[in-house]
Amino acid sequence: MINVLFVCLGNICRSPMAEAVFKHLVEQEGLSQHFHIDSVGTSSFHVGDRAHPGTRQVLTAHGIKCDSISRQVNANDLRDSDYIIAMDSSNVSDLRHTSRSLNLDGKVHLLLDFATNTRTRNVPDPYYEGNFEGVYELVKNGCEGLLTHIRQERGF
Ligand code: 4NP
Repeated sequence: MINVLFVCLGNICRSPMAEAVFKHLVEQEGLSQHFHIDSVGTSSFHVGDRAHPGTRQVLTAHGIKCDSISRQVNANDLRDSDYIIAMDSSNVSDLRHTSRSLNLDGKVHLLLDFATNTRTRNVPDPYYEGNFEGVYELVKNGCEGLLTHIRQERGF
């Protein structure tokens, strides 16, 4: 099983979107049995909440289901994940703080490190800036690149 964990601040906008898009891609490729896919927030701000209506709306418009409930990252998540995929660089610093003694080297990536044809490195936060559709396009691009990367690395 390959454990993929998407991370953002609130776990209501960007990381649940990435989780849903990546699950959808993996299902389309018939690879679901190889993956455990989840998302978390670095904060506890929205623990127990469903994804933001903007995230749910844009996913529905693209025929993708989203049923995640916000939760905060814990040390077990970080230990058990093979790929920890952060939405922006502040998520990465927060994760390093949470993990402290755990060695995350090599496991933490920015989602957009896998995206093609964009120089944007941080997924902008639609909680503040809106534009859920633009965020969806970036997230989709990153998720496609991530799946290609994992398939190459794992040889399937
Ligand atoms: P997310 O967006 O990290 O993409 O889920 C945010 C959601 C909530 C807050 C900040 C960002 N907040 O401050 O409550």
